[in-house]
Amino acid sequence: MSATSRFRALLTTAAMRTPQGRDGWAARASAILPGGVNSPVRAWNGVGGIPIPITSGSGAYLTDAAGRRLIDLVGSWGAGIAGHAHPQVVKAVRRAAGKGLSFGATTLGEVTLAEQIRERYAPAERVRLVSTGTEATMTALRLARAATGRDLVVKFSGCYHGHADPFLVAAGSGLATAGVADSAGVTASTAAETVVLPYGDQQALAEAFARHGERIAAVIAEAAPANMGVVCPPDGFNAAIAEHTRKAGAVFIADEVLTGFRAGPSGYWGVERDAALASGTQPWVPDLVTFGKVIGGGLPVAAVAGRADLMEQLAPLGPVYQAGTLSGNPVAVAAGLATLTVMDATAYARVGAAADRLREAVSQALTQAGIVHAVGRAGTLFSFFLGLEQAPVTFAQAAGQDTAAYASLFHHLRERGVALPPSAFEAWFVSLAHDNAIIDRIVDAVSRWRPPVRA
Ligand SMILES: Cc1ncc(COP(=O)(O)O)c(C=O)c1O
Repeated sequence: MSATSRFRALLTTAAMRTPQGRDGWAARASAILPGGVNSPVRAWNGVGGIPIPITSGSGAYLTDAAGRRLIDLVGSWGAGIAGHAHPQVVKAVRRAAGKGLSFGATTLGEVTLAEQIRERYAPAERVRLVSTGTEATMTALRLARAATGRDLVVKFSGCYHGHADPFLVAAGSGLATAGVADSAGVTASTAAETVVLPYGDQQALAEAFARHGERIAAVIAEAAPANMGVVCPPDGFNAAIAEHTRKAGAVFIADEVLTGFRAGPSGYWGVERDAALASGTQPWVPDLVTFGKVIGGGLPVAAVAGRADLMEQLAPLGPVYQAGTLSGNPVAVAAGLATLTVMDATAYARVGAAADRLREAVSQALTQAGIVHAVGRAGTLFSFFLGLEQAPVTFAQAAGQDTAAYASLFHHLRERGVALPPSAFEAWFVSLAHDNAIIDRIVDAVSRWRPPVRA
């Protein structure tokens, strides 16, 4: 048995002995929920051990069922940018809930949220609210196929776009953590309509268009990949996608489900737009864009948005069918609107400063301890790649990180009251509530960590 496997086995056994282990909540969860979870990455398969359920969250903190308070660096996988139970968001949700939970008819809140999205993200000329990021990307692809009359979608290895069949090929964090490349149950004919390229590879992109140009309906890319760890898109890569799709009459779908209103006030598109304008070049513009997470502030809201002529092909205006009983749910929309209201320019500057401080201080602590690592950064999003000297661009490079060392860091921090994402392939999410004192506590805990010796 290698040192790594021994380490994993030890963690698992130790966790099983706790009151929350075999005989407690974990056993009840596993007896009814497949794998004890309702979404695979919540299981600790990537780091070993058994997750303890969470009972509440407030600001930057979570409380677990064992009564432990943890500094949270998961933030509901990005949704919780304002911090848990932000008073303004909770107030808005209470007020909306008191007026009725769901009507199945348009509400003023939906219109206002859609307008807010467009105000902050100009390419979102029209907006359709849905409930999950998966629905948003699935709808975007259907629109692209309908508009072009073509079948192929190009995606990049390590980019995750939700769990609709066409995207479950080489799809990053959840699948990487579970150790599977593709999902069972996706038919060969569906998989054959997805062309997978290495992220950041302009030559591969050009070759794909040269070979399949007349069949490509869409290229979908995370505006900045954040599901293989955080990857900074190489200079000009998004612009190259925009150019190839434009020339070939295909559709560029920028997936901002994770980065939207999180990597910056206008998502990662806004980060690159500002850089382009500062250097006197034209910013790239996506044809369609998908949002989720932050626009629901912790409740289920997502959106597909983009060029009016494409979006107006959606039913009831056009022939592309898409629907949802709870789409634009008034309570969820109230949470999203309140979150965007809290997240004004000052709030984004604060999240940005907290992210910079934490990223730099953790990197410095790792360097001082002689721990080889690289930092991936896209706007206010970041993650660490232990064991890598250079920040990766492709999934193959990201997969070379030392996941056993990450598992050790995860448990070291957990014991010291800090909740990291239970996978090396995820961003460390900070919120408006992560102040300097909290960041200092995280950095102090990191500075006391030493990686396990590799076999
Ligand atoms: C970039 C990206 N796209 C799509 C999705 C799918 O969103 P959801 O989990 O809401 O279906 C995710 C979820 O993490 C994501 O990160």
